[in-house]
Amino acid sequence: MKRVDFLVIGGGIAGLSAAIRLAAAGSVLLVSKDALAESNTAYAQGGIAVAMGGDEDVALHLEDTLAAGDGLVNRSAAAILVEQGPQRVQELLAWGTAFDREAGKLMLTREGAHSLPRILHANGDATGREIALSLLRHVREIPTIELLEWTTGVELLTIGDRVTGATLLDGDETLQTVLAGSTLLASGGAGQVYSDTTNPAVATGDGIAMAYRAGAEVSDMEFYQFHPTAFAMDGAPRFLMSEALRGEGAFLLNAKGERFMQHYHPLLELAPRDVVARAITREGLDGTVYLDMRHSTKDLKARFPGISAFLSRYDLELGRDLIPVRPAAHYLMGGVRTDVHGRTSLAGLYAAGEVACTGVHGANRLASNSLLEGLVFGALAADAMIHERRGSQQRSALEPESSPEGKIDVGDAYIAAWITELRNLMWLDAGLLRDAAGLRRAGEGLAALALRMPEALTRPAIEARNLHTVATVIVVSALAREESRGAHYRNDFPQRDLIAYHSVMQRGHLRSIALDSDLTLTAI
Ligand code: SIN
Repeated sequence: MKRVDFLVIGGGIAGLSAAIRLAAAGSVLLVSKDALAESNTAYAQGGIAVAMGGDEDVALHLEDTLAAGDGLVNRSAAAILVEQGPQRVQELLAWGTAFDREAGKLMLTREGAHSLPRILHANGDATGREIALSLLRHVREIPTIELLEWTTGVELLTIGDRVTGATLLDGDETLQTVLAGSTLLASGGAGQVYSDTTNPAVATGDGIAMAYRAGAEVSDMEFYQFHPTAFAMDGAPRFLMSEALRGEGAFLLNAKGERFMQHYHPLLELAPRDVVARAITREGLDGTVYLDMRHSTKDLKARFPGISAFLSRYDLELGRDLIPVRPAAHYLMGGVRTDVHGRTSLAGLYAAGEVACTGVHGANRLASNSLLEGLVFGALAADAMIHERRGSQQRSALEPESSPEGKIDVGDAYIAAWITELRNLMWLDAGLLRDAAGLRRAGEGLAALALRMPEALTRPAIEARNLHTVATVIVVSALAREESRGAHYRNDFPQRDLIAYHSVMQRGHLRSIALDSDLTLTAI
């Protein structure tokens, strides 16, 4: 058994930046399920949206964030995001993150639903990787941060409504218990819940599932963002074709070779993501939809080196060929419900980044706001954890109540097939276009899968269980929301309700709460 002041689960932008701050106040254990460089952060291409041009710029960034979120954004969280963003990005620059520059000035690009270019990028289309690596370099220099790679969170440990740490499964499949003064979930999203996703294999919703099972509130889980343009070729991975391509002028063409976005939104190819994703799905009924950059005069290989290298494997070139695309699950707006300080409904448990739901993205995240979210709310959560530690006695001597199940042998092939079944049913019936009949079918499918749940104490079995928890909450929340808003589109309820509300699910019960309601915090 290990004891630390701060346990951080997840090694993306939120976890790494929080760990740097926490290290000044105590011992930190940061665990990551895979190699540390493998996270949703590292896969982010387009960039980091930030208003570096002063107050007017900040106000516009807020407006764009609110508009994209389709009436469901928590305004105070969004204001914090855009106001504190520039300072956090300055910190990144000081830690050596090398954003792309032209004649010494930071280069800015534009993406969908942004009213002006405000997106910093690095190495063309490898922004997330550059940020992750520079944070990691910094983290490795701090002696009070212990890093544990290839380690999977199994369950949160609780005493009553207080989280006291977690059980972890290390790379040798040995169970470890970590008691922590406080625990930060920074474990990212859950794209693997869908058969088609831009997310890496690690994105199995572990933090959300662990928090939910421990009794935490999760919120707005019906809002899953589908990125409009993932590469669409049979047998190829759903590699992200960054929105920055459209920011740099790419057109969308239907199977007849015609642009079509004029039928859907005045911002054309730069409409909000949910609008573009649905438009591509509809046009895709008549054949393949393509990204077209053949008219571009830019040096596309230099601007998009990662995408160009990927496409060359399929003998395709951005400025020469049409690129087949279709939507794929990309980002979960919902998650573990937190206030803007990362505090969840359970004492001692914090969450930041994609795993969390502050309401900052509302029903649809503005492009490239997620790296900024990880930075800003990772830092705020760390500050709150430090504050709690200063104001409280050490509780690490307390022994937890929950303990994980024992090991039963279930083969990896069984688990892989089980997960494929879950991902397919979610894509078919709880994906981009939903209705009551499909969502009920998805619910029945999940209930049937629950009867054959893999129970082994191995990483694949833990991931299977987590995917099932997350999928179930998505389906229940999506069925109950009888309106279309942002990324949640119901064919049977195509209109938006007049009054916006958040959904909250806890211990099997779903309820709705008014916009901007305060989180009811358990005493810390
Ligand atoms: C992209 O590059 O299109 C993804 C950026 C994001 O998801 O915000």
